[in-house]
Amino acid sequence: MTRPYYIAGNWKMHKTRAEAAELAVALVDQLKDGKHKYLVAPGFTLLETVAPIVKGTNIRLGAQNCAAEEQGAHTGEVSVLQLKDLGVQTVILGHSERRHIYKEDDALINKKLKLALAHGFEVILCIGELLEEREAGKAEAVCETQTVKGLEGVAVADLGRIVIAYEPVWAIGTGKTATPEDADAIHAFVRGVIAKLYGQAAAEAIIIQYGGSVKPENAAQLMAKENIDGALVGGAALKAGAFVPIAKFG
Ligand code: 13P
Repeated sequence: MTRPYYIAGNWKMHKTRAEAAELAVALVDQLKDGKHKYLVAPGFTLLETVAPIVKGTNIRLGAQNCAAEEQGAHTGEVSVLQLKDLGVQTVILGHSERRHIYKEDDALINKKLKLALAHGFEVILCIGELLEEREAGKAEAVCETQTVKGLEGVAVADLGRIVIAYEPVWAIGTGKTATPEDADAIHAFVRGVIAKLYGQAAAEAIIIQYGGSVKPENAAQLMAKENIDGALVGGAALKAGAFVPIAKFG
């Protein structure tokens, strides 16, 4: 089966509204003839600025997180209702910075994921091992646990709105990219986990992005691998000059 490529830019905690607008305008222009599926995930305060720029284009609008509750007394949190109101289509959940800096666990991520699905969002579920876990031979076990627990209670009918992003923590923002072979091996393993949970057809259909120091220079080799269906790009997503060649790799 041929899966579409999906290239997403996670802008993390970067940019002011003016800078975000400038980048979004450039991406809309330079990706309008792009052949793949695209997404940008600006910070919460930038969503209202970027939304009208990408609306009706081939670039989806994503948020980098959401609250686990729909609404209520949750100071500092952002609800799915507020994200929907802004035109957000996709929510990134379980990013390693959420897991490791802000101590989000699998149960919380699963709660958020089910809430986001219930409100009609696509979800990019991030998984990935720490360096010490890889060195201890636990990369597969960590990715399996994060996948199984992250998707607990999700029906096969909703799996079409789930994307998995494998982001080995040691490769994020470090300049160290997983080799295409190492990344592909984990992607194949995770696809096997999905097959066990949801069956072969669902496993073949699910998009698994790679994230961690993706650059214009390494995108094509990564994307050439059988099980790598796209990228979740951090640092290189902040400039059109770097993101566009990744988005148009090959
Ligand atoms: P870098 O591309 O900066 O390594 O970040 C990857 C990432 O965390 C995307 O979510």
